[in-house]
Amino acid sequence: MPFPDLGAAILRNLDPEVAHGLAIRALQWSPLPSSGSDDPVLATRIGSLALSNPVGLAAGLDKNGEALSGLSRLGFGFVECGSVTPRPQPGNPKPRLFRLTEDRAIINRMGFNNEGLEPFAARLKTRPSSVAIGANLGANKDTEDRAADYVTGLRRLAGLADYFTVNISSPNTPGLRALQGRDALDDLLGRVAEARSGPAPVFLKVAPDLTGAEVEMIVEAALAHRIDALIVSNTTLDRPASLKSQYAGEAGGLSGAPLRERALAVLRDAASASQGRLPLIGVGGIASGEDAYVRIRAGACAIQIYSALIYEGPGLIGRIKRDLADRLKADGFSSVFEASRTLR
Ligand code: FNR
Repeated sequence: MPFPDLGAAILRNLDPEVAHGLAIRALQWSPLPSSGSDDPVLATRIGSLALSNPVGLAAGLDKNGEALSGLSRLGFGFVECGSVTPRPQPGNPKPRLFRLTEDRAIINRMGFNNEGLEPFAARLKTRPSSVAIGANLGANKDTEDRAADYVTGLRRLAGLADYFTVNISSPNTPGLRALQGRDALDDLLGRVAEARSGPAPVFLKVAPDLTGAEVEMIVEAALAHRIDALIVSNTTLDRPASLKSQYAGEAGGLSGAPLRERALAVLRDAASASQGRLPLIGVGGIASGEDAYVRIRAGACAIQIYSALIYEGPGLIGRIKRDLADRLKADGFSSVFEASRTLR
């Protein structure tokens, strides 16, 4: 394993961004064996995208698509790289990544640091085919017309990814979340619908800091513009009073355990607004098979993880899958997909 659970423990004691860079290098270079085939009960699909298991890597860990072959061997059902913006940009000044260890959380204000579309596209061209790969699209900080950046991303990467995510929920690009308002959203999604070509589905990733009415509006807009699934959710701007870490006051998006209940609540809002019409992907604070199962029973056909992977290492992926398979069988389900459609 590239950062086996012992490696994860070592990485945790380094500066978070240095540790992140080392983990990406290790994933790039270590000759990993494949993690083996999945229990058939873990099968699911996100619209037309069939997956052998529902556990995905959330965007932001491999922003440049540099470590796809290593990541594809860790046992994920799907791996999302990005966010990528049309032009390269450095992101915010460092420090911009904070581990809130006592809280099992992370605060980041990376600000879409990435190498831009060209190197990203070149790497996707030689991508592994053993796992579904998604490309998460963002907008440059200094762009005038944000919607145009997503269109540029979709066009440039057409045919290179199994799905695309339109990410309008990062809190670290000023004004980006305003794209979640109805008029801006209609404009953006209308242009995305026009720009898409080929069979790859397009997902929309939303913030957890939305009211029930906002979620309902977004679900309707997504359906009206043929969006294929909603990813719920990105990081939160909220700072729960329970946070203990000295970094709790840092600006940026909070992820990990303190996001769990909020992300679940927004997922439930989306499920009740969608009534099965729009596939949902649950993200935010998932750290166990139980967490994953709760999201699936709330209507998510797949889930993604990021922060818990940093704390626990890649052994977590197998643990989540084993526990999930046991829970599905105990409740008499034949697949994750069936469980996600059988609302409690
Ligand atoms: C993220 N996340 C993120 N999301 C996205 O759509 N594009 C991005 O570039 C990033 N970048 C990013 C960097 C870092 C350091 C973190 C911790 C997170 C958000 C991520 O994909 C996910 O939605 C949240 O982290 C919530 O899931 P977890 O971490 O609680 O499992």
